[in-house]
Amino acid sequence: MITWSKDRAEAAQRILGSYPERRSAVMPLLYVAMAEYGYVSEQAMRDVAELTGLTPVQVSSVASFYTMYKREEVGRYLVSVCTSVSCHLLGGDDVLHAVEAETGVPHGETGPDGTFSVEHVECIGACGGAPAVQVNYELIEGVTPEKAVELCQWLNATEPDPLLGDEMQALFGGQRSFDWGPSESTGSKGPVPAFGPYSTAGTDRLAGP
Ligand code: FES
Repeated sequence: MITWSKDRAEAAQRILGSYPERRSAVMPLLYVAMAEYGYVSEQAMRDVAELTGLTPVQVSSVASFYTMYKREEVGRYLVSVCTSVSCHLLGGDDVLHAVEAETGVPHGETGPDGTFSVEHVECIGACGGAPAVQVNYELIEGVTPEKAVELCQWLNATEPDPLLGDEMQALFGGQRSFDWGPSESTGSKGPVPAFGPYSTAGTDRLAGP
């Protein structure tokens, strides 16, 4: 039996209603489940299986394929450093090492106090503003190792909530790939991706139970 919060249960039903086949909703539902549990737990996958009519193994095969579905709890701030070609050529590895050194958290791990998770990621679509970094999927372009250190210190000291990409770009970013256009005022409330069209945005998108 599914025991999600009322808001997330309603979001799940809205998502299911937007697909002709229930099974097609597996990916957005996994994000809602991840917001509910803080990560894609075994129970989260059983819940999504129940909602979609898939088997838990089928849901697990989807969840384990995509890296943005986290199978373990992540820290309050998920720092993702791009190390694909463009970012690599412009110092992405140095940025990653600076983040690891400042936080004390190696790639793929979460610190013991739960503040930071650190990962290197493949291209995040900001090659023109390389090296690019995301914190809780909020983008910052043109990041130097020095600015990456300052970013981590700022996160630790100020605990911004929500996290605003525009603000981090202004404080710690450099060259951008292109003008982002209208500023994004909602920001991120946690390390779970929140995609507005899936109705996971807003107050019901917080990570963790
Ligand atoms: S290679 Fe880093 S954003 Fe594309």
